[in-house]
Amino acid sequence: MTSTDLIQKDKKTFVPPAYLDDYEHALKGFDWNSIHKELEWFDKDHMNAAHNAVDRHTKTANRNKVAVIYESSSGKIEKYTYLDLKHQSNKFANVLTKLGIKKGERVFLFLPRIPEVYATFLGTLKIGAIASTLFSAFGEDALLDRLGHSKAKMVVTTPDLFKRLASIKDKLPDLTYVVLVSTDLIPQKEGLVSSVPILIDYKKEMLEASKNFTVVKTHAEDPAFLLYTSGSTGKPKGVVHAHMAILQQYYTHKMIHDVHPEDVYWCTADHGWVTGISYGILGPLANGGTILQYEGRFDPEIWYETLERHEVNIWYTAPTAIRMLMKAGLEVVKKYDFSHLRHIYSVGEPLNPEAIRWGMQAFKKPFHDTWWQTETGSMLIVNYPTMPIKLGSMGKPFPGITAAVLDHDGKEVSADVEGDLAIKRGWPSMMRTLWHDEERYKKLFKGDWYITGDRARKDSDGYFWYIGRADDVIKTSGERVGPFEVESVLVEHPAIAEAAVIGKPDELRGEIIKAFITLRAGFTPNPDLEEDIKKFVKQHLAAHAYPREMAFMDKLPKTRSGKIMRRLLKARELGLPEGDTSTLED
Ligand code: WTA
Repeated sequence: MTSTDLIQKDKKTFVPPAYLDDYEHALKGFDWNSIHKELEWFDKDHMNAAHNAVDRHTKTANRNKVAVIYESSSGKIEKYTYLDLKHQSNKFANVLTKLGIKKGERVFLFLPRIPEVYATFLGTLKIGAIASTLFSAFGEDALLDRLGHSKAKMVVTTPDLFKRLASIKDKLPDLTYVVLVSTDLIPQKEGLVSSVPILIDYKKEMLEASKNFTVVKTHAEDPAFLLYTSGSTGKPKGVVHAHMAILQQYYTHKMIHDVHPEDVYWCTADHGWVTGISYGILGPLANGGTILQYEGRFDPEIWYETLERHEVNIWYTAPTAIRMLMKAGLEVVKKYDFSHLRHIYSVGEPLNPEAIRWGMQAFKKPFHDTWWQTETGSMLIVNYPTMPIKLGSMGKPFPGITAAVLDHDGKEVSADVEGDLAIKRGWPSMMRTLWHDEERYKKLFKGDWYITGDRARKDSDGYFWYIGRADDVIKTSGERVGPFEVESVLVEHPAIAEAAVIGKPDELRGEIIKAFITLRAGFTPNPDLEEDIKKFVKQHLAAHAYPREMAFMDKLPKTRSGKIMRRLLKARELGLPEGDTSTLED
């Protein structure tokens, strides 16, 4: 039977292969404790995620297996074995130790998708320090918020990206070291002179460091990585994950992505986002798999060539990318051989039924949707390969996960009724706290339920359907943006008096950022000003987080207490009912 035969057109459902029953059976009565033994523990409470991702495999036949295939933007290909990763992360752990970085201190990676990400991320975990990543499109304000709030001790970056850091380093008193990664030894004179923070030449230090290191015996509950993510109010919050998270990243990657030892797996997400960490580093390495790390940008033909050249078997990508591929047309697809692809997956935004149908035509495979969040650490609601797909549904909770749709009082609603998507607390990769904000963390729960911030419904077959966000968080091209962050940068622009930002539905990008702006006296709207505002936001916040659309207003709708009513702006923009406007100013 081919995948094409699996479409049951009348029911809009894919009929699963016969092994679904076995799969479900294997997971019946599932208990996270039962898989502890699949990882290596120092004792019953202590384990280290980097040890489990890498070192563990060097004691087996996987020692010389390729862990990472790196393809640079210019097409250069490099391969790193598990032994290479062990030695390189050990070396970096020695560099950190030599510089006096201690357990629990924050080391940030501000790097493009290059192999050094693996050595530095894993080396940081090996000494028990906390690794964090910064998307390489971030601008000055985004960097300052994250590095400042977490009191980062070190940033690992490239000479090119360092330029963005250089202008804010004086506002970061805790930042002691900047490690510069470059393909060449860093020349002394290149304007890269700095006494505080101290600049460290990565290549030189790595050459000198020993490849032997004894991994710190971290407690499974010790923090391993910290990821800043945007909410609807305030600055980004620091989601803290424990070493223990790797247990679930390992197991979900194994069961949902169905990895086989000989597979080449490509996760297109950047390590600046949670997908790039959970399923671009930890999950696949913990399984002893081979990861493709592709540095280049999105381009349909180059992506197809990449899939073909590396004979990718398992591919994890995102709806915006799929929609962009769809836009490039089916003719292009025909030039390539995708017979090696076994499974294809999607995450980050709602996966349109149309995208699944197109996937069947293009790759002879359905995209399997997976739902999760930075906060949840790994995939929780999924369409695993052996499960019938209901087009447009996110699938069902992974074994060991209890998901529900709740009403305002935290009671479960009936089938097909919309409510808050919630998960019963207690899964291994659940965030452990918000960095220095335990109060805000506690507010995310109602009793035993973690309230995800998503609205959903569950049908009578137990499938979950995504409806939208309960808050104002924007997903543009799959990347999470907080309206407050954009607004804060907008009002720094000399022409802008006030700003409110919403996510506006967009066929290609899921949502685009639209800004409603009032100008200061003396300024009038014009195309040059719009361009200047876009440039300003890109430079200060991030290249992806600028408003693609702007509306200039005389005034913004506010509550009597002076709060801008984004909800009202959005309703008006989309032609939806305005809802309760009784608190409106006038
Ligand atoms: C959205 C990404 C619909 C959702 C791993 C969630 C999705 C937010 C899906 C988390 C999906 C993620 N269908 N929406 N399959 N997956 N989302 O933290 O709103 O970048 O709350 O994590 O993305 O985004 P984050």
